[in-house]
Amino acid sequence: MITIRVPATTANLGPGFDCIGLALDLWNEVQFEADDQITFRVTGEGASQLDNQPNNLLVEAFLRVYEICGQNTRGVAVRSHNQIPPSSGMGSSAAALVAGIFGANELLGRPLSQADMLKLATEMEGHPDNVAPALLGGLVVSVMNEGEILSRRYEVPTLAAVIVKPNVDWPTRVARAVLPPSVSRADAIFNIGRTVLVVDALRSGDLDLLRKAMDDRLHQPYRLEHIPGGKAAFEAARHFGAAALSGAGPSILCFVESGQGAAAESAVLAAFESNGVEARAFRLSASNLGAGVVTSAT
Ligand code: HSE
Repeated sequence: MITIRVPATTANLGPGFDCIGLALDLWNEVQFEADDQITFRVTGEGASQLDNQPNNLLVEAFLRVYEICGQNTRGVAVRSHNQIPPSSGMGSSAAALVAGIFGANELLGRPLSQADMLKLATEMEGHPDNVAPALLGGLVVSVMNEGEILSRRYEVPTLAAVIVKPNVDWPTRVARAVLPPSVSRADAIFNIGRTVLVVDALRSGDLDLLRKAMDDRLHQPYRLEHIPGGKAAFEAARHFGAAALSGAGPSILCFVESGQGAAAESAVLAAFESNGVEARAFRLSASNLGAGVVTSAT
């Protein structure tokens, strides 16, 4: 039996569309125990949708590792306690994939390297920006290059973030379908320089630079149009700090000075609510830790 934990992640961080992501101090904790059938029990966030549904990404990823390693398994009993809300833009599917891969790799005695796990998680997710920080922790820049993942991980200082999740249906499939198939050179240039500055600002904790640089022309303007209350909530967040869509949305991310969290949270919640959208807030910090084994305190 083994218990592991995997962090939430926030991808894109404004201009870094599909290539940067940051781990957050919010965790799913997953226990795996060899069994003669596959069972999947969930408590916490998303339990009503996920409990007792063993055909899911986490189990698929777990079994894939066994298959790749040429190992048979009769079954596994999975128990997950989730803090990451599903469909929120906080990396719940990346956390599920990484949990399945990491858990299987631990049970098998670590046949896969970290690079192997990252490649497999990226293949299953389609892009590396959430799975990389979920696995490695910290801030990760990653791109796919002819079947290889090129990535660099950076430690980050204490960064306080508020994430406000509206209660709206916003599948990633839809969030990608609203994007234009091509972009102008001016918009590409707008994002390239800002992405480099955002990485530097996150590494150095320079909130002033982050506030000015964390802007985007490749995905946010298109997505915010379709998220109920999204534009008002985004503007409210910008008033307090460095604001972005968290991943593909629908949640709004805002990095704030310490002491500003409560005010930012209230303003963003109020913006959603004044548009008739229920929302809830998470007060988080960046995490330099990624997926890991939970050791018992005894
Ligand atoms: N980079 C991805 C996107 C994150 O913005 O669509 C969501 O999976």
